[in-house]
Amino acid sequence: MIPSGPSNGMPRHVAIIMDGNGRWASQRGKPRSWGHRQGVEALRRTVRAAGDLGIEVLTLYSFSSENWSRPEAEVRFLLELLRRFIRTDVADLHKNNVRIMMIGGREGLDPGILSMMEEAESLTRDNTAMKLVIAFNYGSRQELTRAVQAIARKVAEGKIQPVDITPTVISNHLDTGGLPDPDLLIRTGGEQRLSNYLLWQCAYTEFVFIPEYWPDFDAALLSRSIQEYRERDRRYGGIKAQTA
Ligand code: FPP
Repeated sequence: MIPSGPSNGMPRHVAIIMDGNGRWASQRGKPRSWGHRQGVEALRRTVRAAGDLGIEVLTLYSFSSENWSRPEAEVRFLLELLRRFIRTDVADLHKNNVRIMMIGGREGLDPGILSMMEEAESLTRDNTAMKLVIAFNYGSRQELTRAVQAIARKVAEGKIQPVDITPTVISNHLDTGGLPDPDLLIRTGGEQRLSNYLLWQCAYTEFVFIPEYWPDFDAALLSRSIQEYRERDRRYGGIKAQTA
């Protein structure tokens, strides 16, 4: 699916890789956990700012499939932050008409976290303002593998024919099925890579990499990134519209 921003040039879907919590904390002589805590504050600011700007979908990479390899104490801390975030912020988000969606693998997750995630999703299911998509235990290759397995099962059951597998069918089997592809991807922290994030969905996404660490992210940096996006020339493999 080719992303299509609205005619005012604003992105419909912004995806963010929230990187640099650890380095932000180390620079201040604090433990990495302090950086993650401040990262949650930046997340709150960003959700508010994106809502104010009329962004339709905001997708945040909160914990990757690969993050399990971090030291056990850090993993536990990140899980606790997610748990606390759901416990303390969901009611407010619901009041603000925000729909919460979770993407990522659910098999093997702690049943407590899983049921909190599902409750947040079902509570906010009919909300019509921004969609806040939290990528948790998310890895794009794993997501694609699950989609391929689901499609293969349907083929084996005779529900669809291999010839009917189109890019749209594949998109619809991803965790993001039904959402527009990201128009803009922002990565904080200075690294310039995708780190297994939304690989299929970012086929035509504009990337903005910024040096600031995630805990410093705010409305001004979001607006600056969107401004950079608006100055880009999106051609989707075509050529620029010709003037006669
Ligand atoms: C990357 O920084 C950040 C993460 C792996 C986790 C992001 C999590 C949050 C912002 C808070 C928790 C989220 C929710 C939904 C409550 P890093 O640790 O890789 O930083 P570094 O690259 O400087 O080491």
